[in-house]
Amino acid sequence: MDRLTVREIDVTGKRVLVRVDFNVPLVGKTGKIADDSRIRATLPTIDYLMDRGARVILCSHLGRPGGKFVKGLSLDGFARRLQEILMQPVAFSRDCIGPEAEKMAAALENGQVLLLENLRFHAEEERNTEPFARSLARLGDIFVNDAFGTSHRSHASIVGITSYLPSVAGLLLEKELRELGSILEAPARPFGVLLGGAKVSDKVGMIDNIMGKVDFIMIGGGMAATFLKAKSYEVGLSLVEDSTETAAKLIAKALNNGVKLQLPDDVVVADKIESGATVETVSIENIPRSKAIVDIGVLTITNFTRRLERCRTVFWNGPMGVYEMGFDEGTNAMARIIASLNAATITGGGSTAEIITEMKLADKITFVSTGGGASLRFLSGETLSGVEVLLDRKTAGRVLQPLTGRGHNGQLGTG
Ligand code: 3PG
Repeated sequence: MDRLTVREIDVTGKRVLVRVDFNVPLVGKTGKIADDSRIRATLPTIDYLMDRGARVILCSHLGRPGGKFVKGLSLDGFARRLQEILMQPVAFSRDCIGPEAEKMAAALENGQVLLLENLRFHAEEERNTEPFARSLARLGDIFVNDAFGTSHRSHASIVGITSYLPSVAGLLLEKELRELGSILEAPARPFGVLLGGAKVSDKVGMIDNIMGKVDFIMIGGGMAATFLKAKSYEVGLSLVEDSTETAAKLIAKALNNGVKLQLPDDVVVADKIESGATVETVSIENIPRSKAIVDIGVLTITNFTRRLERCRTVFWNGPMGVYEMGFDEGTNAMARIIASLNAATITGGGSTAEIITEMKLADKITFVSTGGGASLRFLSGETLSGVEVLLDRKTAGRVLQPLTGRGHNGQLGTG
């Protein structure tokens, strides 16, 4: 990786402000953590810093509170969870900037941990204002970005802050870039990509970017309706995006590149997209006008499985049906198949990671990315704004010196 990582700097005794992505699924509006995988994924960085006597200050967003305090989106309970996981006290500051946060950050001793309240309780975080970034920067001597899942956002705690503190990558960020990067560089062939979820628009860039490297693209989920429509099939009440033209172009591009783009052969349809609705499985030639696609059918599961079993690399993003309403047979079947493959298997996307964790299959997948939008952006070939601003290995010499020496004054490039 061309960015410096936390491994290459001296952190002992330094106040290290770590941007993490604790935007985890919650149980309804209770504020309770439903799945703590994203928290656990940052442990290598937190442990690394604690072990070396850094004073660790963690900051994150949770949800989209729109710049105001929302009780159910407070990170208060997260400090307690982290405390249980780390088996040591974790202090909590009720604001992510200001006198209380500054006082608590200054009082930390080597190896201690402080968690700040939700960054997005301040509208300035998303607006990336200079004063807000400066206020955050006052809390630390060094900035570490370990929030891969948010690194596509140009927010103050991701981008703005790097103007005021020497900024390096955390170990999770490094791992994400390496594992996802392996798909773009030299995936073992055959390489298959299984895509689902509702929106084609989210995935166009990625499909386009991997076209020269992939052998099979299998499409299920809500987005299959747009592709089926582009091939002139009746899709009934299924949601079809404006992107049928884009879908048609991708189908043509796949053909030109010798990529087998496989759509469902049969689908499960329902008259209402509601839990408990009556369903039937029909071939794609016979989708009733009065029904909507809610899952892939048994024949499709068999055909996708056959392809997946031939692959040496598999990337999966997105459920095969309306999973959250119980139309989950296709998704569950695909998860089980992917977990059983003798191949490099990588999954991305918030809901895909949740499904894998819920099914207790995470340890059977080569790499479960913590990124949703970020992983798709990265696989589209985009440089993530939060990575771009970190210290470049080639040009970092001038700031590395003060970081490895007696300390530094917090101003990038002036030490
Ligand atoms: C995510 O869950 O994808 C990240 O935490 C980013 O969240 P956002 O889409 O609300 O910016």
